[in-house]
Formats: sequence, structure tokens, C-alpha cells
Amino acid sequence: MANLKVGILTSGGDCSGLNAALRGAAKAIYQKFGEDNVDIIGIHDGYYGLIHNICNRMKPDDFSGILTQGGTILGTRRTPYKQMQIIEDDKIDKVKCMKDTYKKQRFDCILALGGNGTHKTANLLSEEGLNVISLPKTIDNDIWGTDITFGFHTAVDVATDAIDRIHTTATSHSRIMIVEIMGNKAGWLALYSGIAGGADVILIPEIPYKIDKVIEACQHRADKGKPFSIVVVAEGAFDVEEAKLKKKERQKQRELNNETTVTYRIMKEVQKKTGLETRAVIPGHILRGGTPSAYDRILATQFGSYAAQLISQGNYGNAIAKINGKISHNPLSEVAHKTKFVPIDDDHVITAKSIGISFGI
Ligand code: F6P
Repeated sequence: MANLKVGILTSGGDCSGLNAALRGAAKAIYQKFGEDNVDIIGIHDGYYGLIHNICNRMKPDDFSGILTQGGTILGTRRTPYKQMQIIEDDKIDKVKCMKDTYKKQRFDCILALGGNGTHKTANLLSEEGLNVISLPKTIDNDIWGTDITFGFHTAVDVATDAIDRIHTTATSHSRIMIVEIMGNKAGWLALYSGIAGGADVILIPEIPYKIDKVIEACQHRADKGKPFSIVVVAEGAFDVEEAKLKKKERQKQRELNNETTVTYRIMKEVQKKTGLETRAVIPGHILRGGTPSAYDRILATQFGSYAAQLISQGNYGNAIAKINGKISHNPLSEVAHKTKFVPIDDDHVITAKSIGISFGI
């Protein structure tokens, strides 16, 4: 029997680079401990697999040839943190079940690859006495304490490509195109892809917009002989009036107004006030799929390799991070329950403003 047993799971929304991180972690673990001395157990569909003990022993070969593959070979699922400590109709005590699986499987530790929700549950399990290490993945780049998450830069590339393509059709048709980019709480992806894609307006949740200012920016361009404009909207953007409401109230109001997303509302308002033809485009989950960029392959590999280092030191209860350019870690307890928002004086915001990109304010 192997000396070390490592459980590994991917949880929450997927992104490019998950397989690269799994591969990086597995290869580094096998290198460090020797293939005969370690068992890596794949836990399927995130915490759901840990709750229901859906696990299988992985072979070194399972981690071969997956560096460039999108998605995750382990499958993933959203098991919301809020529900973790609540016994629902199925009568399952999820925390107890996860601890039971950990014991039954005789895990020495678990590697949890995921975003903010994953980190909250990882911290909960760590507080319950399990050895857990998290790796930061999300296209949203909103995990506190890390300069960057893997999956983000690939999504920036994909979003930028989408905006580039929209740019040409916007120009041909003299249209205003409202492009919705994922990012419910934080606007990093809209901000980066907006700058890279040459957006005229970028709307992010951290900077509530005024619709009149958005219209003014598009109209101003039209008056100067450029009747097309690109407005990049983060999925979670809201206007200054909505900013006065709590999130739930905001959602309720939108439901009452039959607004599925903010993007369509902006599209209607811009078209009505400018008289210019306006269209909305939502790339959605396209941003999460496909081959990871070279940057994300490297970053994911670095995070995976660092996980092996932490295991060898028995240094658990940590969230792996890139801090001031170096791969390092923060205590899970410091990271859980926080979000890394775009600071309103972020360098990228300043750069964007300096070249005349409007934030609708
Ligand atoms: O957290 C990543 C993310 O892609 C967000 O940007 C987006 O709001 C959400 O996931 C979409 O989730 P789902 O895949 O459950 O629709």
C-alpha cells in the first residue's frame, strides 16, 4: 500500500487550465514521492463526489496528454457553500459525509481546485480537521490574495477574439454592439478584454454606470463620424440607481421588469435614445471552454507543482496563490469569504480612462 493518499477534485464552474493543473500536481507528486509510494484518488464532480464517495484511483497515465484539453477529466459541479451546512430534503448531512469519505478513503490530504465557493468549503473542511490545499481557478480572477487565477487569461483571449469579430461586423453595419462578458461580482474579465478588444465603453460592477453617459459616449462617436461603438458589459454590471439596492432587491426588481440580463436593457435604451441600430451579443460559456493559453498552462502547472511542495512539507490549510509574481500561499481562513474586486483606481481602469474609454460615469 502506498504511503501517501491524495484526493483531488475540481469544483464550481469549469475553465481552461483545470486539466493542466491536475497534470501539474500529479506529475510533481509522483516525482516527489515516487509512483509506488503515492496514490492519487480522483474525486468526481467536485464536492458532490466527496459527499457521495464517488472516487477512483488514478494511474499516472490518466494525467498524460491532458495539458491542452479544456474542461476537467474529473468532472465538476456546483455544490453551493450556503447549502453545505444545511440538511435538505434528501436528509444528507453533507459535511459529515465529506468527513466520512475522507476517513473511508484514508486520505492524507485533499487538493481542491476551484473558485470562491470552492475555497469557502475548503476552509470549512480544514476547520473540521481535514488536510486541504486549494488551487485558484476561475475566469473571473476574483479570488482574494492571488495576483491571478488560472483560466482567466485564456478567457481574456477568447473574449478579446469575440470582441474583435464583433468589431468588424459593427463597423460594416454602423451598429452599436453591446457585448456581455461573464463576471457576476467582479469586472476583471470585461475590463481586460474590453481594453484588449478596443471597447469604447466598459461597464463593470465595481463602477455603477449612468445610462445617459453610455448613450453620450456612443452619440459622441457617431457625431464625430464613427457610427459604430463597442460597449463591453460585465454580466454583473448595474446602474447608479440599482447600486442603492441590495443584491436581492436588485434581482427582484429586474425580474419584475422582465429583464433577463442587464445587457438587453442597455441595448434597448441605447437604441431608443441614439436612434442607432443596436445589438446585444452574449458569448457566455464559450469563455470557459477550449484549450488553455500558454500562459494558463504554465500558471496551472506552477500551482500544481507548488501543491506537491506543500504536501511534502505537510503544510495544509492553505490556498495556493501568486503573490507579487511568486508562487506562494495564504491561509485558507484568510481567503475564504472574500472577493478580489477591481479597485476603482486599478492601473487598468486608469489606462482605459486615459485613452478615452468610458466607464459610463
Ligand atoms: O464563476 C465563473 C462563472 O463563469 C461566472 O463568470 C459566471 O457568472 C458563472 O460562472 C456562470 O455559472 P454557470 O456555469 O453555473 O452558469
